[in-house]
Amino acid sequence: MKTSELTFNISRLPKELQSVLGELYAKNYDTGNYIAPNSIYQGDAREILTKIKPNTIALSVWSPPYYVGKEYESYLTFDSWKELLRDVIEQHFSVVKPGGFLVINIADILVFKDKEMPRIQADVIHRKRSSVTKEDIFKVMNEHPEYNRYRIASLLNCSEQTIDRRLNGNNIRGGKSEPQTRVKIVGGLVEEWALGAGFYPYDRRVWVKDAAWENSRWASLSYRSVDEFEYIYIFWKPGITKYDRSRLTRDEWRNWGSRAVWTFPSVRANDDHEAKFPIELPLRTIKLLTDEGDIVLDCFVGSGTTAIAAIRENRQFIGIDLEKKYVNLAKHNIKIELNR
Ligand SMILES: C[S@@+](CC[C@H](N)C(=O)[O-])C[C@H]1O[C@@H](n2cnc3c(N)ncnc32)[C@H](O)[C@@H]1O
Repeated sequence: MKTSELTFNISRLPKELQSVLGELYAKNYDTGNYIAPNSIYQGDAREILTKIKPNTIALSVWSPPYYVGKEYESYLTFDSWKELLRDVIEQHFSVVKPGGFLVINIADILVFKDKEMPRIQADVIHRKRSSVTKEDIFKVMNEHPEYNRYRIASLLNCSEQTIDRRLNGNNIRGGKSEPQTRVKIVGGLVEEWALGAGFYPYDRRVWVKDAAWENSRWASLSYRSVDEFEYIYIFWKPGITKYDRSRLTRDEWRNWGSRAVWTFPSVRANDDHEAKFPIELPLRTIKLLTDEGDIVLDCFVGSGTTAIAAIRENRQFIGIDLEKKYVNLAKHNIKIELNR
């Protein structure tokens, strides 16, 4: 392919990118058998992504499994979760149009098990209601070495929770107040994978949602905050990007187009899917980063929110999900949207 066929000066890019992009541009003229837009496909994102025509996606916007114990991610270990995300990001480089965008909505893992972490020796002052002391417990243990926690508690007329707290400074009830859990910050990983694939971090925004107190029972036993925001990372594939200020109204630019913090509530009724994002999220990125007729991809499409946002904005869409029930749900929701 002649360089003159390119829409921008490839020689201004780093050497490694020149060869990768040169090959990719050549695929524009490839008439292989690719999947059609405006449909939802069932399968592993890594498999279906190989069937999308290279250089055709103006925007890919998705929210992957977060590795927080949801049913649909139970097949993943922490290592295979990282592999999934890394591979999916890498595969995006070929399908996104030059000058196009990959938008990833993700959150840090707030209760990440880390066996290396020292056990926090919590001295929970406001809960010291029982007068039983550590010394009382040692005394019973000396006298009755065969006693377990429950029998010691019964003898001292307190709860087994109190016994464990006095001995270990820990809460034995598990869940969010489990010891040796820490925050796992995922932004660095996502950046590393995107750069490795050939994308450049272009922008990052924060989505402030409603405070999830129910996910944060541990708040009363620590100084940690409740869960109330997520990230939106925007990556750019080198190429010509059209800048058109008329995509948004003056008010939209002022209220969110130019703003780093986006505030809108999360989906309250997760009745048909465990973790939908609100339509506002794909809607805003679609309005900001694409034109009518462009193809928008979501390779973790779940209930079909991104596809619906694309339809509302007269864009085309491709949706992918591993689970048949979500593919059916997305198709059902799309049908309703089309009949509106
Ligand atoms: C956070 S949810 C996305 C929800 C979606 N944004 C919505 O609004 O409904 C992640 C989705 O990824 C899907 N998923 C998990 N592993 C996958 C894989 N390997 N390939 C494609 N989809 C996968 C799950 O079934 C789930 O629907």
